[in-house]
Amino acid sequence: MTIVRVFAPGSIGNLGPGLDIIGLAVGGAGDSVTAERTRGGQIEVAEAGHPTLSTDPDRHAAAIAAAAVFRLARRRTGLRIWCEKGLPLAGGQGGSAASAVAGAVAANLLVGSPLDATRLMEAALVAEEAVAGRHLDNIAPALLGGMTLIRSIDPIDVIRLRVPARLRIVLAKPSYELRTRDGRSALPDTVSRSTALYQAAQVAGVVAGATTGDLALLGRSIDDRIAEPARAPLLPGFVEAKAAALAAGSLGCSISGSGPTIFALAADDRTARRIGLAIARSYRRSGFETTLRIGSVDSTGARERPIVRRPTSR
Ligand code: HSE
Repeated sequence: MTIVRVFAPGSIGNLGPGLDIIGLAVGGAGDSVTAERTRGGQIEVAEAGHPTLSTDPDRHAAAIAAAAVFRLARRRTGLRIWCEKGLPLAGGQGGSAASAVAGAVAANLLVGSPLDATRLMEAALVAEEAVAGRHLDNIAPALLGGMTLIRSIDPIDVIRLRVPARLRIVLAKPSYELRTRDGRSALPDTVSRSTALYQAAQVAGVVAGATTGDLALLGRSIDDRIAEPARAPLLPGFVEAKAAALAAGSLGCSISGSGPTIFALAADDRTARRIGLAIARSYRRSGFETTLRIGSVDSTGARERPIVRRPTSR
């Protein structure tokens, strides 16, 4: 195998209370990486995927992750990468993680798949740390699909959780950006004991609700008292949009990752569409347009895709 194309889905980091420890892969949009083995030991980014993304292999998530794969697997090969960004930049939909995972999986396939899922997450984490921050809650669902719990990042211990197939997810991105790094710098270093305990109980509620199929429990456990209050001031229109989503019948609503995308959960398509329109109306009143996606859980995660056309070099 000398050339491969890999797709990785977008994801919701945190899923409300699970700051850095719960993630959910969402069907639909994702990033794809085509990678081709080349002579020599260099990694070259032929197509970054967006005009504002760097083609410097030390600064592109897919290339950094691919280099980490070769380092961990002790393989040496040249690589040329073409990235197709289906996810927004600085959008809070797990775009950097999807590129990193697709790059890692593609590189691993090209050298005979020596790395298992945990080592692939380790490689993708090198990239995520370099471009966004050290967290696995987008990488794990992008790789494995479904809902994932990061029980530990060091050493990596990720548990894939069952999620009801009927769950519908509204992703709404208002027309502004927030870099993950900026969203992370707003987080408090310490929280009170009562906040920590309440948050732990909500995480348990999310896990119990998802795994038992109790969507009402899942929804009412989307109650984040750590990141959401700290980040809401950076996200104009969020508080009103969340209120609109809940009034329209959402089971639960919060910031997707560090934002600005917000997510709202629903039990069926009709309600999901109603919620999406209510959020968009609310953001319009706040002066923003909204890009909406409605989907279900992506339970597959990263996968090979056919190479539709052979990419051309720069
Ligand atoms: N857990 C990360 C954060 C997700 O909240 O900063 C970023 O997408």
